Amino acid sequence: MTTQTTLTLRRPDDWHVHLRDGGVMAGVLPYTARQFARAIIMPNLSPPVTSVEGTAAYRQRILDALPAGSDFTPLMTCYLTDASDPAEIARGFEEGVFTAAKLYPAHATTGAAHGVTDIARIRPVLERMADIGMPLLVHGEVTDAAVDIFDREAVFIERVLAPLLADLPGLRVVFEHITTADAVAFVDAMGANVAATITPQHLHINRNAMFAGGLRPHAYCLPVAKREAHRLALRKAATSGSAKYFLGTDSAPHAVAAKESACGCAGIFNAPYALESYAAVFDEEGALDRLEAFASENGPRFYGLALNEGTVMLERGAVVVPDVIDAGGTAIVPFHAGQTLGWRIKD
Ligand code: NCD
Ligand code: ZN
Repeated sequence: MTTQTTLTLRRPDDWHVHLRDGGVMAGVLPYTARQFARAIIMPNLSPPVTSVEGTAAYRQRILDALPAGSDFTPLMTCYLTDASDPAEIARGFEEGVFTAAKLYPAHATTGAAHGVTDIARIRPVLERMADIGMPLLVHGEVTDAAVDIFDREAVFIERVLAPLLADLPGLRVVFEHITTADAVAFVDAMGANVAATITPQHLHINRNAMFAGGLRPHAYCLPVAKREAHRLALRKAATSGSAKYFLGTDSAPHAVAAKESACGCAGIFNAPYALESYAAVFDEEGALDRLEAFASENGPRFYGLALNEGTVMLERGAVVVPDVIDAGGTAIVPFHAGQTLGWRIKD
C-alpha cells in the first residue's frame, strides 16, 4: 500500500465480458461502457453467435443499447463449433466483424453446449487462423468427468493446449481467465503469441470463498477458484509487469434465482466495480504503477490495436458495493456485494 490518493490511467479495455442480450444486456452494458473504451464480447448466447451476419447483428444490438454519448466499442468474437468453416471465420475476420474466435470445449461452462467436442475436428479452422493472425480465445478446461474439477485447467494444458501450440506454434492464443500457477508457468514459458487474461475474482478469492459458513453461489464461476497458492501466483503474474497478462473481467451476469438454486449457474457479475476491484489488488501488492499496463496497454498490443486516447482517474476513497443491482428488471448480485472497496472512479 502507498499513500498515493489518485491514479490516472490511460482508458482501459475489458478483454473478456459476457453482456448477454435483450433487457439484461441493456441493463449491464452501461457498467462496462462507463469504465472501458472497448471490450471483447463473448458469443455464448443461446443459441450461440456463430455466423458473420449473426455477429454483426449482435454488435448492432449492443451499439443500439449504449447510453447516449457513449463511444464504447464492442469487439466481437465467433463461437467455434465442430461445424465451423475456415472460409467463414476468415471472412468475418477480414471484414472486421470478428476480432477473434472463442473455443469452448463442449459442455465446459455456461452456454458451451454447442462447443467443440474434439479440437482435431477444427484443425483446418485453427490452421487458417494461424495463417491470418486471428487470435484464438480459449476456455481452458477439460470436460472429462473423471478429472477432478480443480485439476481441469492443468490437465487441459497438458492434453490440449501444449499439443495444439506444438502443432501450430505461430497461433495467437489468449488463455482466458486463468486460475492456476500451472497456467502462469505455461504462459510464461511460451512465446509472445501466447497471453492470458485474469479476472478480478481469481485475484481476490480462493476456493474457500464458495464454502464460507455455507454454500456461496455468488462465488462460483468457471473455471472455479482454486487453492490459495494459485491465487497468489495469479496476483504475482498480474502485477509482474509482464506484457503477457491483461485485464479480462469475465463478468458473467445471472439472475439471482438462477444463482441461488439447487443447480446454480456458473458466473460472477463483476462489471459494476471491476476497475475498483483490480485497483484494490494492485494497491495491496504495492504495484499501482503497473495497473495501467495490465488494464490499458498489454491487451491492445497483443491484439494489434491502437492504445486508447483519454484517461480515467481513480481516487482513494470508500465505495460501498450494493447487495443487488437491477439490470433492466433482472436482479443480479454483483461481485463484492455488501463490501467496501478502497478506490473509486472519479466522474
Ligand atoms: C460464463 C457465463 O456465465 O457465460 N460463466 C462463468 O462462470 N465464467 C461462461 C464462461 O466464461 O465460462
Ligand atoms: Zn467467460
